Amino acid sequence: MDEIKTQKHDAIVLSSQGEKELQGRFVELLKSTPVPDDELLPNLGLYLSSKSFSRMLFFYEIYKMIVDTHGVVMEFGVRWGQTLSLLSALRGIFEPFNRHRKIIGFDTFEGFRGTGEIDGNRSNIKDGSFSVSADYEGYLSEILAIQEALNPIPHLRKFDLIKGDAVKTVPAYLKDHPETTVSLAIFDFDIYKPTKAALEAVKPHLFKGSVLVFDELCDDIFPGETVAVREVLGLENLRIKRMPMTARVSYAVIE
Ligand SMILES: C[S@@+](CC[C@H](N)C(=O)[O-])C[C@H]1O[C@@H](n2cnc3c(N)ncnc32)[C@H](O)[C@@H]1O
Repeated sequence: MDEIKTQKHDAIVLSSQGEKELQGRFVELLKSTPVPDDELLPNLGLYLSSKSFSRMLFFYEIYKMIVDTHGVVMEFGVRWGQTLSLLSALRGIFEPFNRHRKIIGFDTFEGFRGTGEIDGNRSNIKDGSFSVSADYEGYLSEILAIQEALNPIPHLRKFDLIKGDAVKTVPAYLKDHPETTVSLAIFDFDIYKPTKAALEAVKPHLFKGSVLVFDELCDDIFPGETVAVREVLGLENLRIKRMPMTARVSYAVIE
């Protein structure tokens, strides 16, 4: 079977040609929507496929697991920021007054940095792959600010976007914020080097009950993430679980 690539990046997409065509049609239908502007947001579910929706359901289940834990949410690898925005909405639903539940995202916002041999050659990615548009973090900040403004205590900012190479920014952030306890850490850099650096930096801030989410464990397209987890945490120390609605994403609770 020929591997199908995304339009903008040379990354592998596992969809069949038929699925790609249907997804393309979905996008056309979204762009030409007859739904009026003031009804568009409540009707966005029109355009959710089972695949997109399943990831949201996964994070809904994960968020419920952290509601009675005390600490921040960190996402390592943000890209367009859908997961951060979703987490912000979930905070608004489950714990709108929890000012300690900061949501912090780390990304270069310029694509991968630190790819190496250990990341294999199936993914075809290189430094700069998966970049976003210029100044995207400004656009995402506005979205996250609106998410907060639609919920109580919007005057207390509860999100942060940290731009730069995670090898430097994650240790620097935690040095500046020694008070941090991490309830939820989502690892989605895909590659070894920043994943290892983030794991090493965040490890002293984890506690019994912290939830770790991994996007590429046991994934032959991005082997580097598993190697980093093995080296820093040790697979034998983690009960790695999955949920029925998603294939790739997994999680573990620190015991
Ligand atoms: C798969 S995307 C993240 C997707 C996102 N978690 C989501 O749910 O949509 C991987 C991200 O990791 C970022 N990244 C890769 N290497 C990095 C590094 N050394 N420092 C910071 N970000 C990095 C890339 O810029 C990219 O946006």
